[in-house]
Amino acid sequence: MRRGPSEALLRGRRRAPARLWVAVAALVAGTIWLCSSSSLGLSRGTSYYRVQICNAVVAARIMNATLVLPELDANSFWRDESGFVGIYDVPHFMKTLKYDVRIVLSIPEVTTNGKTKKLKAHQIRPPRDAPVTWYTTTALENMKKYGAIYLTPFSHRLAEDIDDSELQRLRCRVNYHALRFKPHIMKTSSEIVNKLRSEGHFMSIHLRFEMDMLAFAGCFDIFTPKEQKILMKYRQENFAYKKLVPRERRIIGKCPLTPEEVGLILRAMGFDNTTRIFLASGELFGGKRFMKPFKAMFPRLENHSTVGPGKLEENTRGLAGSAVDYMVCLLSDIFMPTYDGPSNFANNLMGHRLYYGFRTTVTPNRKALAPIFIDRVEGRTAGFEERVRQVMFNSHFGGPHKCIHPESFYTNSWPECFCQVNAKSLADRCPPENINDVLESQFQSVEDMEELKAANQTDSASQTEETMI
Ligand SMILES: *[C@@H]1O[C@H](CO)[C@@H](O)[C@H](O)[C@H]1NC(C)=O
Ligand SMILES: *[C@@H]1O[C@H](CO)[C@@H](O)[C@H](O)[C@H]1NC(C)=O
Ligand SMILES: *[C@@H]1O[C@H](CO)[C@@H](O)[C@H](O)[C@H]1NC(C)=O
Ligand SMILES: *[C@@H]1O[C@H](CO)[C@@H](O)[C@H](O)[C@H]1NC(C)=O
Repeated sequence: MRRGPSEALLRGRRRAPARLWVAVAALVAGTIWLCSSSSLGLSRGTSYYRVQICNAVVAARIMNATLVLPELDANSFWRDESGFVGIYDVPHFMKTLKYDVRIVLSIPEVTTNGKTKKLKAHQIRPPRDAPVTWYTTTALENMKKYGAIYLTPFSHRLAEDIDDSELQRLRCRVNYHALRFKPHIMKTSSEIVNKLRSEGHFMSIHLRFEMDMLAFAGCFDIFTPKEQKILMKYRQENFAYKKLVPRERRIIGKCPLTPEEVGLILRAMGFDNTTRIFLASGELFGGKRFMKPFKAMFPRLENHSTVGPGKLEENTRGLAGSAVDYMVCLLSDIFMPTYDGPSNFANNLMGHRLYYGFRTTVTPNRKALAPIFIDRVEGRTAGFEERVRQVMFNSHFGGPHKCIHPESFYTNSWPECFCQVNAKSLADRCPPENINDVLESQFQSVEDMEELKAANQTDSASQTEETMI
């Protein structure tokens, strides 16, 4: 299957690789199975999962269904030890969402006439950005009819705008609380952050200057004929045909910033050569030639291989490295994505940093910067830095701002996911610090009661399931 970066998926040009299983195990609890794989060309794999996992949990909640943790696609690039279970802390995930959705590790087995078999699911294709009503009608009817449904593809299959603040808040709970990387990834990340911070503040940059993104963007004009051939080939093999004129792409701000442009922006903003920068990136395309001018401007450059323990990539084929990059960018003093288009890694980080106290994020407006860079290349350099500054200081730097379409909820969850100290409505009030303990004791007494009741009944849960299916 041909695969490409997220923008292709966003536009629905390609079949999305993610899948979601939904099955009914009992009247009160259906089952959702998320089966996901990541795309070959997409180096930022971990964040690719996040949005889909959030949507899957919300879908399960809407349908009162049980979520089955991702079963990895056997043909997936991220095989075996990677994927959800290899990257995320599963016990933490289940515990955090304990009071939101029921989560099980594998699709339930059913016993009929003494024979045990796995639930068989009916496959349905959810409409793009399906509304909540699709889940409460079509999906639910099918779930009841067939006992189990299998939703595929599952990329952007639940509307971002849901007019139910509880469900929106659940998205944040999944994304910013339940989805925690495994302990070894957290440990490596904090080691790197501590090391960097021991020398003062540091900035992280997500440098999206990789082959897949460049091929997708169609900005070939800055490359050698040989490099252009490689990009063209990648484009043909992975994306739908579209006539692209590189100069036009550049003028409308569709080209990822080059490392040199990133350096020039930072210089114009007043960062000098003592600035410490952590670079999060896959393999940069075009070799050292593009990095050289950037390194000359900012020599104190690090990445997870240069500061980390160096064994990250061994078993996880880049996923663990991407997860560590994510954490270091999350915790850095300043974060700068160089491609603010549909890059899940950068978008999710922007949303995450906003959620954790409006951490400073520098988002270059590539469309506004494009004519300034074109002028520079063509020799019109007068007032260059001042013009760049004017664009750059005309942004919010990750401060609170209302989310306006096409900005994504996953990029900006303000104000939905922010509590208020003196709110009138109880739902908007800030929870106590020990909210999990409070919930724990509250629900424990309910659970104790239910257990007692269940113990009182002669029917066992499995017998109920049999009659249902
Ligand atoms: C899910 O359960 C809640 C509370 O029990 C109920 O109000 C709601 O209608 C149920 N939703 C569906 C889709 O069955
Ligand atoms: C940084 O810039 C200053 C001049 O502004 C120069 O003297 C110094 O050598 C530079 N340091 C490095 C490491 O390039
Ligand atoms: C990290 O930087 C070093 C030195 O610049 C480079 O050789 C290496 O490929 C980089 N690693 C990653 C994962 O970007
Ligand atoms: C269990 O059953 C007994 C007798 O049927 C009843 O008295 C008791 O209240 C029940 N307990 C619960 C928790 O439902």
